[in-house]
Amino acid sequence: MSLRSDTPLIDTRNRPLRSLRVSVTDRCNLRCQYCMPEEDYVWIPRRDLLSFEEMDNLVALLVELGIERLRLTGGEPLLRRDLAALVKMFAARSGLRDLSLTTNGILLADCAQKLADAGLHRITVSLDTLQPERFKSLTRRDDLGAVLAGIQAARATGLAGLKINTVVMRGFNDDELVELIEFGKSVEAEVRFIEYMDVGGATGWSPQQVVSRGEILELLGRHYGAIEPAQREDRAPAERFVLPDSTRFGIVSSTTAPFCSSCDRSRLTADGLWYLCLYADQGIDLTSPLRNGASNEAISLVIASAWQRRVDRGAEDRLAIPNRSVLVSVSTLRKQHHLEMHTRGG
Ligand code: GTP
Ligand code: 5AD
Ligand code: SF4
Repeated sequence: MSLRSDTPLIDTRNRPLRSLRVSVTDRCNLRCQYCMPEEDYVWIPRRDLLSFEEMDNLVALLVELGIERLRLTGGEPLLRRDLAALVKMFAARSGLRDLSLTTNGILLADCAQKLADAGLHRITVSLDTLQPERFKSLTRRDDLGAVLAGIQAARATGLAGLKINTVVMRGFNDDELVELIEFGKSVEAEVRFIEYMDVGGATGWSPQQVVSRGEILELLGRHYGAIEPAQREDRAPAERFVLPDSTRFGIVSSTTAPFCSSCDRSRLTADGLWYLCLYADQGIDLTSPLRNGASNEAISLVIASAWQRRVDRGAEDRLAIPNRSVLVSVSTLRKQHHLEMHTRGG
């Protein structure tokens, strides 16, 4: 039985199932303040990690149900051994028209070309500052140089669509936006400024630290002059803009102007929980049926019926809360590590 049809699978808000973020590991080699500010973490037990074959099996079913875009995330995805082999498996899936990776760049210099050769389409590197001391205080590791080398290696692959993601935090890096745009130009990457989000894991979040889309535009406008909106890509979370010199950049305003109404994304954790929203409390367990020998048809039905019942609009719900503060306490995160951003994929 094939469940793929010309009519897309839609949820209760008429949003199609189109995009999947696959977290391949919850481990990370940085400790960014906005994601992993604590000393200790509870990790997914190794035996629970999906093998590449298991991931590919689930991805095949999801692609059959409508997924067209897949992004590999973590934790830090390059910590998963032989990631290129997984890229190769996904690249062979004919239904996928976009296969991308979000990485912190630390290990990228050594493997960018291998990933490109395996069939990866696009790379996005997280880079929040160009100042070594700031990098060290943000990430607890003195390795800005490795990230910059990783970006150069990504550029050298010749893959189109290189992007840099910058989470903007007040008092930390909001004075570096122009430098980051200029750096982006020098490496032919599109910079996207991301509003600091109150996701699980952001245990130091406060509304005062959020630099809004409006402020980001004002800061940049003061330096560059008039900024024009660029045509919006369908369902992309980043709103795109053009500077007077034609440089393009993006802003992801998930905190102050969420895009839930057009959200077509879901997330698969490294241990096979399928989340229908970044903010969802519960994921759908796809590992148990897979490991207990359920048929592909049965697993596809679980997926399809969950999407058809989907009501989530987590970021909009958060926006509606009057005195918004930290989403999940440290003690709850210790008990429910799937609420962590690094577990469900950045
Ligand atoms: P493109 O496919 O290149 O447009 O990338 P993307 O924006 O889908 O992925 P990326 O990993 O670069 O995400 C950028 C940022 O958007 C993330 O780091 C998050 O801060 C935010 N973001 C990603 N996914 C979601 C989501 O599902 N919901 C919300 N509200 N924000 C998200
Ligand atoms: N706010 C915004 N973006 C975040 N990320 C992780 N935590 C947060 C947060 N609190 C995103 C960043 C980073 C990616 C791995 O995850 O974009 O680049
Ligand atoms: Fe989609 Fe949830 Fe993010 Fe809204 S908060 S855009 S529904 S994942």
